[in-house]
Amino acid sequence: MQFADAKERVESLHQQLFEHNRRYHVLDDPIITDAEYDQLMRELIQLETEFPELQTADSPTQRVGAAPLPFFEKVEHTSQMLSLSNAFNKEDLIEFDQRIKKAMGLDQITYVCELKIDGLAVSIRFEDGVYTLGATRGDGQVGENITQNVKTIRSLPLKLADPISLEVRGEAYLPKKEFERINQKRAEVGESLFANPRNAAAGSLRQLDPKLAAERALDLFIYGMDGESSDGFTTHQETFRAISKLGLKVNAEWKVANSIDEVWSYIEHWQLERSNLGYEIDGIVVKVDDYAIRAELGFTAKSPRWAIAYKFPAEEAISILEDIELRVGRTGVITPTAILKPVVLAGTTVKRASLHNEDIIREKGLLLGDHVVVKKAGDIIPEVVKVITTERTGEEVAFHMPTHCPECQSELVRLEGEVALRCINPACAAQIKEGIIHFVSRGAMNMERLGEKVVIQLYEYKLISSIADLYYLKEEALLSLPRMGAKSVGNILNSIEKSKNNSLERLLFGLGIRFVGSKGAKMIAQHFETMDAIVQATEEDLLTIEEVGPKMAGSIVTYFEKPEVKALLDRLKQANVNMTYKGSKIVRVSESEHSFAGKVFVITGTLESMTRQEAAEKLEQLGAQVTNSVSKKTDFLLAGEKAGSKLTKAQTLGVSILDEEAFLAEIQ
Ligand code: IVH
Repeated sequence: MQFADAKERVESLHQQLFEHNRRYHVLDDPIITDAEYDQLMRELIQLETEFPELQTADSPTQRVGAAPLPFFEKVEHTSQMLSLSNAFNKEDLIEFDQRIKKAMGLDQITYVCELKIDGLAVSIRFEDGVYTLGATRGDGQVGENITQNVKTIRSLPLKLADPISLEVRGEAYLPKKEFERINQKRAEVGESLFANPRNAAAGSLRQLDPKLAAERALDLFIYGMDGESSDGFTTHQETFRAISKLGLKVNAEWKVANSIDEVWSYIEHWQLERSNLGYEIDGIVVKVDDYAIRAELGFTAKSPRWAIAYKFPAEEAISILEDIELRVGRTGVITPTAILKPVVLAGTTVKRASLHNEDIIREKGLLLGDHVVVKKAGDIIPEVVKVITTERTGEEVAFHMPTHCPECQSELVRLEGEVALRCINPACAAQIKEGIIHFVSRGAMNMERLGEKVVIQLYEYKLISSIADLYYLKEEALLSLPRMGAKSVGNILNSIEKSKNNSLERLLFGLGIRFVGSKGAKMIAQHFETMDAIVQATEEDLLTIEEVGPKMAGSIVTYFEKPEVKALLDRLKQANVNMTYKGSKIVRVSESEHSFAGKVFVITGTLESMTRQEAAEKLEQLGAQVTNSVSKKTDFLLAGEKAGSKLTKAQTLGVSILDEEAFLAEIQ
């Protein structure tokens, strides 16, 4: 291709990729497939390789291209990045409103209410429409140059729809799902966990190597323009619309309010709804809409007089660490759980909180008997934040992790490079039970009617001791178990039978091979198509798959070399469990309809981690119906503690009973 033609094509590709990127990441409304997008991108990379002079800094290929930095350079902000003064109740807001009305001699002010995103403030500069700078807030005057890291944020256009120069301010944040994914990954390799999405976002933005930042899918909402850039606009609403038009992502939930009562309704609404957002918010920002009024009001040394941040009440409470309980997981990892003096937190009683691993106990300096601050992370899961050392009496005692497995008494080990203590006895009952629970779970073989409780019961009554045993269960044996009616037995056997037809990736994931998650299993199943081919695969074969790294490959080969695994697969085959890839998609909660959708629920008893109302709301969001009385039409009874007649009735009718733990596991 001639240079002139290449140049023209590169420009056209820039434009197309810019628009598709905006449709996908800003508008959430793509019009081409990922594969088509990749095709355009590949063509651009190809042309840039052939004609390196056509590769510009704003090229879509340049999001993650930069080399690691030795340190971050300082940047002076064009205008100071201020913070906001806070309001903690309605009175504070009324006072704010009255002060403004008085100063302006007006009896009504128009405000714009926005969500206060819990992330990090960033300043972003475009010159002639091209992204040139991303900076942290720093001390407000001077921040750090994090241009390369901000560039990895997909919703940030590297080029604006208009070739203008301006500086915008916004909040970079980590979506809740991404936060969970990162922590899950860190937990799997024994790295310490991020306490909240905000810390994780800060950690990502401060990576000196942009490749590491790019691995964390940060996102960005733009909430305003820097002083000079907003010249020419008369209201905040107008600015917001202009920002969106340029291709930048604005949070869509902003709303105009003409009184503090209207502001308060907005606050109340979001206080209830915040847990349903895909990102964390820590309050509501209220801003005067009219720029002329803003100019009159001006600033204090630290913050504008025309805006205020209402902070949601902290969902924290003080409790006492009464004990630390240990649970042996599927892979033998010992997880400590804090047993707390019951305390009411955001409307529910909290009695337990996961401590993840021994290092966290040490890092937080926890002693048994300590007064601790407890908070609800992600609105559901309780977490121990810190010790209140000033409350110590000297009676507190140190906690020591055991040297032996609390379940099978074999010696615990700490594998190289891992934080977690593990029981490595393959015959450990706790691990076997957890392994079977994983096998039947929704993400794996999806045996809907076989919950955790039933698995434990079957194991304890010695009807099963491995996953293969599930396929050899006899009706009579099941019927002989206590609290097991004919209907439940029918349902259980049906679920087991149905699972035999699952596509290979579910079985592969269900085996619980270390480092093989559902995504990895899917890629491997897709690639090799049969279990036999996977069993025979070498590490080298496995490494040809993009998702598979050396750790996973090594773990798979070692797993299939074990004679007991060969025997297990033989028994599964004999039971006619499908061992081929059928091309079906792995069902993930986020990607498809939840298995509770369309199901009829009744909730009874006291739940530990939430109110019945909250549980009902959660279920309704997932598409389930919640009714008051148990009947034949009821699919599930969610039974908390002290469940009474509804539980008895459900048992008589053979309605499936979910306890809180199983419920939480399903909805997470
Ligand atoms: S406006 C003059 N709007 O909250 C200050 N801030 O102290 C303009 N924040 O660190 C800030 N969401 O980064 C504004 N919708 C929003 C916001 C928001 C989050 C952060 C901001 C700053 C802090 C306020």
